[in-house]
Amino acid sequence: MDNIHIDSGLLGKCGEIIKGYHEPCRVALVTDYTVGALYVTTVADSLKSAGFEVFIFAFEGGEQSKNLETYGKILEFFADNEITRSDLAVALGGGVVGDLTGFAAATYMRGINYVQMPTTLLSMVDSSIGGKTSIDLDAGKNLCGAFHQPLCVISSVDTLETLDKKYYNDGVAEIIKYAMLGNDRIMQSLEKGIDCEIIKEAVKTKLSFVEGDEFDRGRRRMLNLGHTVGHAVEHASRYAIPHGHAVAIGMCAMARAGEKLGITEEGTSSELERLVSGFGLPTTTIISPDDLLNSALSDKKRSGDNIDLVFPISFGKCEIKTFPVEKLGEIISLGVK
Ligand SMILES: NC(=O)c1ccc[n+]([C@@H]2O[C@H](COP(=O)([O-])OP(=O)(O)OC[C@H]3O[C@@H](n4cnc5c(N)ncnc54)[C@H](O)[C@@H]3O)[C@@H](O)[C@H]2O)c1
Ligand SMILES: [Zn+2]
Repeated sequence: MDNIHIDSGLLGKCGEIIKGYHEPCRVALVTDYTVGALYVTTVADSLKSAGFEVFIFAFEGGEQSKNLETYGKILEFFADNEITRSDLAVALGGGVVGDLTGFAAATYMRGINYVQMPTTLLSMVDSSIGGKTSIDLDAGKNLCGAFHQPLCVISSVDTLETLDKKYYNDGVAEIIKYAMLGNDRIMQSLEKGIDCEIIKEAVKTKLSFVEGDEFDRGRRRMLNLGHTVGHAVEHASRYAIPHGHAVAIGMCAMARAGEKLGITEEGTSSELERLVSGFGLPTTTIISPDDLLNSALSDKKRSGDNIDLVFPISFGKCEIKTFPVEKLGEIISLGVK
């Protein structure tokens, strides 16, 4: 947690903060157009005042850009601006900017250092933490990626003031996930509203699952709650449904399917649905179970003939269950109906 800075007003201090982790060097500052228009000048000025030389790359935001093409452009930008292994990449934006920049940093010259500066609730509580980086392939979400830890994470919570409600709620969905995984303190604070403290609590929860399982073979997989169906919803909707909304649908689907399969305590799904819809998030989808299955079959959580699925057992308790892949269609059907 020491290298994760969460507070208001950190954009203008980021140069000094980063200097505590890395001596002044060339910085490739990556952002999307929306975030760039709002915040890149403050960040670039702060970096320059601290002695860094700054090169800015911006792209059209959104999941549609989290692909090989943008990834290639970022790598070429690094090369054109003579970024070397002793230099830095800085990701300023939501999870899309963070995932793309992190993956570019993981692979450029076999790995350079990078810093995450998340500006969405989802990226503050989830994607900037834990070192997973990735891009999407046509076949599915996050199919190409690497584990690469940032030097530090700087979450300037005041940036959330300009975030659209829809995207804000995406972050709420991941916070509800932490509540489902057992953090009841988060549950109580959720009702009061989101502030620095709840973001810190969410980050601690994520770290507690990541610690000791950096490469996602054990306990960390619990964080996939709602994500198998969620990624299928994102992919099948061609990313019209954003990540957190899709995860909300995915969690509710697993609770409903779990109840029908006798895995989940009765009443869990209705409690979860109430919470999810109370935050303006969807609880199900009109996408057909067949389309969802096709998208889900390319999911990384499949290993050979089996698939690991995280089921809520009750509110605040979840378990991983392994099923033969042939059973997935039935589980999805039970979940979305
Ligand atoms: N690496 C991981 O462990 C991990 C975990 C969870 C999610 N993710 C990934 O994160 C991505 C979703 O991230 P996201 O929800 O942050 O979406 P996003 O990056 O697409 O941002 C959402 C929108 O908000 C805009 N925006 C960002 N910050 C803003 C601000 N402060 N003010 C105004 N507008 C702002 C962006 O331009 C964009 O249009 C998905 O690709 C998902 O797969 C990764
Ligand atoms: Zn997620």
